[in-house]
Amino acid sequence: MNWCVVSMRMSKQMFGSFGSVMLVPFSCFRSLSFSSNSHFTSSHLQQQQHQHLRSSDLVSFEYSDLNLSYNLDQGHVRIRQHVNPLSASFSVPAQVPDWNMVFADPTLPLMVDIGCGSGRFLMWLAKRNPKVSNYLGLEIRQKLVKRAELWVKDMTLDNIHFLFANATISFKQLVESYPGPLRLVSILCPDPHFKKRHHKRRVLQKPLVGAIVDNLIPGGQLFVQSDVLEVALDMRIQFDEFDALKHIDTLNPAMPCDDEGWLLRNPMGIRTEREIHAEFEGAKIYRRLYQKQM
Ligand SMILES: C[S@@+](CC[C@H](N)C(=O)[O-])C[C@H]1O[C@@H](n2cnc3c(N)ncnc32)[C@H](O)[C@@H]1O
Repeated sequence: MNWCVVSMRMSKQMFGSFGSVMLVPFSCFRSLSFSSNSHFTSSHLQQQQHQHLRSSDLVSFEYSDLNLSYNLDQGHVRIRQHVNPLSASFSVPAQVPDWNMVFADPTLPLMVDIGCGSGRFLMWLAKRNPKVSNYLGLEIRQKLVKRAELWVKDMTLDNIHFLFANATISFKQLVESYPGPLRLVSILCPDPHFKKRHHKRRVLQKPLVGAIVDNLIPGGQLFVQSDVLEVALDMRIQFDEFDALKHIDTLNPAMPCDDEGWLLRNPMGIRTEREIHAEFEGAKIYRRLYQKQM
């Protein structure tokens, strides 16, 4: 039998605490830790044999079918943890691209991921939905965008584009110029900016809320989540007040919530990178999925 060493952080979450590390059979480890999002191969798992798993290993595993490992090594860049979106350098709206140049078919329904980080979450979706949907990632850290663009070029995807943009001020103009319908918007684990005086640095500000609700097509969806309750509540309070948005559990009983109204499962088929790191640490993810009324 193949065995895997699981660090205590993970063992606490998955199996209860049994000391600093524990051995579990691979078969057990695989089914318990990676659930339906698993894209691991047994060779990936075997490589981890007798090693401590880190959450970054899980990210690589979950995104392994993007085959980005070579580029990951090549494209490793030192990236600042946070930027201040209120600084002058981020106050200029992004230039609207020529949509015919960035998407093979710019009339397809569009998903926009606000604060897309590395972009791998969106690439995973784009790879699965060619000719069905276009994907636009907005990210304020330019180095991440540059790396994502290199990856996309390697993957020869024609339904995804990344833009260096302060989404708070650029989103509206971008989506209003897009020729097709806005079908899905996501804001996943946005930077928390904990201090009260820094809340104005959070990506979700009133004008952005309005632009999302106004521009979604009827039937279009909005998915928000955070591992920080305060941040999730901040987003929830702002979207709950719109009659035009219904939470998905009232429309679809197959999408259940907990007692507080947080969606139990990530409906996207893949976890985001921040989500993987947070769940590895034992955090709960607070999710809401809204649908705009017809
Ligand atoms: C905590 S990370 C989460 C990344 C990804 N969504 C995930 O769940 O793994 C938040 C991301 O939002 C980006 N961001 C923060 N403020 C932004 C803004 N105003 N416009 C665009 N991106 C922003 C950050 O640079 C960072 O990459």
